[in-house]
Amino acid sequence: MDAAFLADWLNLLLRWAHLIVGIAWIGASFYFIWLDNHLHPPLDPADAARGIGGEVWAVHGGGFYTARKFKVAPEKLPPELHWFMWEAYTTLITGFLLLCLVYYHGAEVALIDPTVMALDKWEAIGLSLCFLVAGWLFYDWLCRSAFGQDEAILGGLVALYCGVAAWALCHVFSGRGAYLHFGAMLGVIMVLNVYFVIIPGQRELVKAKQEGRIPDPKYGLMGRQRSVHNTYFTLPVLFTMISNHYAGLYGHEWNWVLLLMISVAGALIRIWFVQRHKGNQNPLVLAAGLVMLALTAVLSLPRPTVDIGPAASFAEVQPVFQARCQPCHATRPTQEGFSAPPKGVILESQPEIRARAAMINQQVWASRVMPPGNLTNITEDERRLIARWVKGGAQ
Ligand code: HEC
Repeated sequence: MDAAFLADWLNLLLRWAHLIVGIAWIGASFYFIWLDNHLHPPLDPADAARGIGGEVWAVHGGGFYTARKFKVAPEKLPPELHWFMWEAYTTLITGFLLLCLVYYHGAEVALIDPTVMALDKWEAIGLSLCFLVAGWLFYDWLCRSAFGQDEAILGGLVALYCGVAAWALCHVFSGRGAYLHFGAMLGVIMVLNVYFVIIPGQRELVKAKQEGRIPDPKYGLMGRQRSVHNTYFTLPVLFTMISNHYAGLYGHEWNWVLLLMISVAGALIRIWFVQRHKGNQNPLVLAAGLVMLALTAVLSLPRPTVDIGPAASFAEVQPVFQARCQPCHATRPTQEGFSAPPKGVILESQPEIRARAAMINQQVWASRVMPPGNLTNITEDERRLIARWVKGGAQ
């Protein structure tokens, strides 16, 4: 059994697991935010008397449910208390393993783009780890510093920090790798917020309760601040996790700007949803998010192809496909690390190539993401030749 085949299966299993635990985590987080914002005063006055601040009645899956939130804590803690943390931790663990497999093991294909920065494999891996670790350390320091006292100032600085990170990543890694790392960095921050701040805060609550003292309010405040950040990071992170399908964005020359614009749009849309839970949504927030998305789409429009020369014939381009694409895009790829044609794209016969002409133009000429990391050393003239063939109607 060859290594590429095993890697494909490992990829499938890790990706599947990452998706499942990620859904469990983000799903639970969406649910609790929804719940918190839909609490009504308890219907039964006796409940209010025993310290219940709000409740939600719901019907789901053929059953009636009521969830209650105590103003502070119940009189007596039940013997069993469910903690929501493994959803987050396992998302980080599976995500990191997937990162190692796709972006470290396959660094030449997925992470490095010599036209952005000529890194060798270990330099790229080292830089990736630095981004992830330093990303957390700096963010955490920012929150704990004097800036953390003011929500608005902190929010502004975190946003600015994300901007700098997006710019830097897009100037170090391939577009695809940069987008993924932006999301991974925010994802790491989100999970470590749970691990280092939110869960310890909850432990303090429980401990204070057991010791019959008032909990230190510092934990509650800090935990809330981090939860708010996590809420607004969610949609941008989810975008980056699917961004590798959109070469028109990550392969664009303004890719870092597009990444930030989509992130802002995602955060605004999330803000609007949270407002809506509370019944005080501001339509301008949603409108701003949608306008931002529309602007991103406009900015990502492929620029009209300037004078690239006369139409080329298939006979002229065929050798380019053979030399630069077929090592990977063949029924039996010869490129190391590929056990099957990526995405099922086979570029061997004329009909197969013709059928994908528009997409090939987008990948090779407009966004230049193929060949990945230019592993097969395509030249500028060859790219133009393909564009000329497509422009001439891919005859
Ligand atoms: C080193 C291997 C390799 C080479 C060489 C290569 N590709 Fe790809 N190609 C890939 C991989 C990997 C993907 C899947 C990328 C992803 O996961 O989005 C891909 C995907 C594609 C897609 C589908 C994109 C999509 O979004 O569905 C097209 C079209 C494509 N390549 C065209 C080309 C062309 C044209 C060439 C030659 C100029 C080429 N590729 C050279 C590895 C390669």
